Amino acid sequence: MDDARWLAGLEEQAAQRLPAALFDYLVQGARDGETAAAAVGAWSSHRLLPRVLRDVTSVDASTVVLGRRTSVPFGVAPSTLQRAVHPDGELAMARAVADADGLMVVSSNAGTRFADIGATGVRWWVQCYLPSDRSLAVPLLRRAVEAGADAVVLTVDTPVVGTKYPRTPDGAVVWDSVDPEIVRVNFEPGYDDAPGSGKALDLGPRDIEWLATTTGLPVVVKGVLRADDATRAVEAGAAAVWVSNHGGRQLDRAVPTAAVLESVATALSSQAQVYVDGGVRTGIDVVTALALGADHVFLGRLPLYALVEGTGGVARMLREMAAQTVDALRLCGAIDVRDARGLTGPVPATTP
Ligand SMILES: Cc1cc2nc3c(=O)[nH]c(=O)nc-3n(C[C@H](O)[C@H](O)[C@H](O)COP(=O)(O)O)c2cc1C
Repeated sequence: MDDARWLAGLEEQAAQRLPAALFDYLVQGARDGETAAAAVGAWSSHRLLPRVLRDVTSVDASTVVLGRRTSVPFGVAPSTLQRAVHPDGELAMARAVADADGLMVVSSNAGTRFADIGATGVRWWVQCYLPSDRSLAVPLLRRAVEAGADAVVLTVDTPVVGTKYPRTPDGAVVWDSVDPEIVRVNFEPGYDDAPGSGKALDLGPRDIEWLATTTGLPVVVKGVLRADDATRAVEAGAAAVWVSNHGGRQLDRAVPTAAVLESVATALSSQAQVYVDGGVRTGIDVVTALALGADHVFLGRLPLYALVEGTGGVARMLREMAAQTVDALRLCGAIDVRDARGLTGPVPATTP
């Protein structure tokens, strides 16, 4: 099968190869799944306005993200249960990303020790949620810093975990069968029973400064959908803002990220970097996000589906996404990633 068709069929292949409750967990959105369902189509509601008569012999798809160059303008978003998808889990993911000279964000709920992920040589960031008692987060953050994380991503869209309904034929949910040894291995023993370990309901701009001071790392704020919140985050010291609705897994009926990215990028101008995720499945989606003002794009479910085939699957997905991205840049008449910015055009009116 050619790589393009293989990539387009990844979700279907994961559905066939993974246990039903696990696949259901990966694919699902919160509640009625309206936001999750709208994400992919929202990219195709935009139109690109390509340049022509430009020499696109040599196209550079690399980007500088928080001061370091990465080979492609997309990276791997944080997600749990990678070791349920494949026994090598985060290590398989990290090896493929390292080989591609890319960037991986590791969930605080990861099933692999940060030190082992760092030892692969991958460039990685740590993602965290903050608990009510902030001091409980410190050991995990220290471990991430020691293992070489070069930024910390604060997920701000999860004061409570969005309700999800199982859609498996027998109502099975993944958490009933998953081995507790393969998740949350970077927390202190007994963390979940400690008073104050529940998710913070009082997150605020001061937490951005606290995280920067505690870790000494740049802070990326993930889960922003509004221009005013993006500005507040940057004023509070965020190095970058990540436009995300958590893959539709938090507030159902939240807007698609493709619909609000441009307003956030415009509000921040070049004060701070802007990243985006949600429904990105092709190289044209990546280039559409770049055209709308993203400095970097993240992939959530796509790498998880590719991980079913281990390191080789993730490597193949990254290669094909890179090839599609270069192709789309060429077709846009853009010689590099910055050149793609602003190449959006009018959206045709729909006929009733
Ligand atoms: C199975 C699964 C687990 C996730 N776990 C986390 C997590 O631990 N922390 C986090 O910030 N986001 C998490 N996310 C959200 C992703 O980082 C990302 O925002 C989202 O998947 C992007 O949408 P996409 O899947 O359509 O690409 C998870 C997403 C999925 C599908």
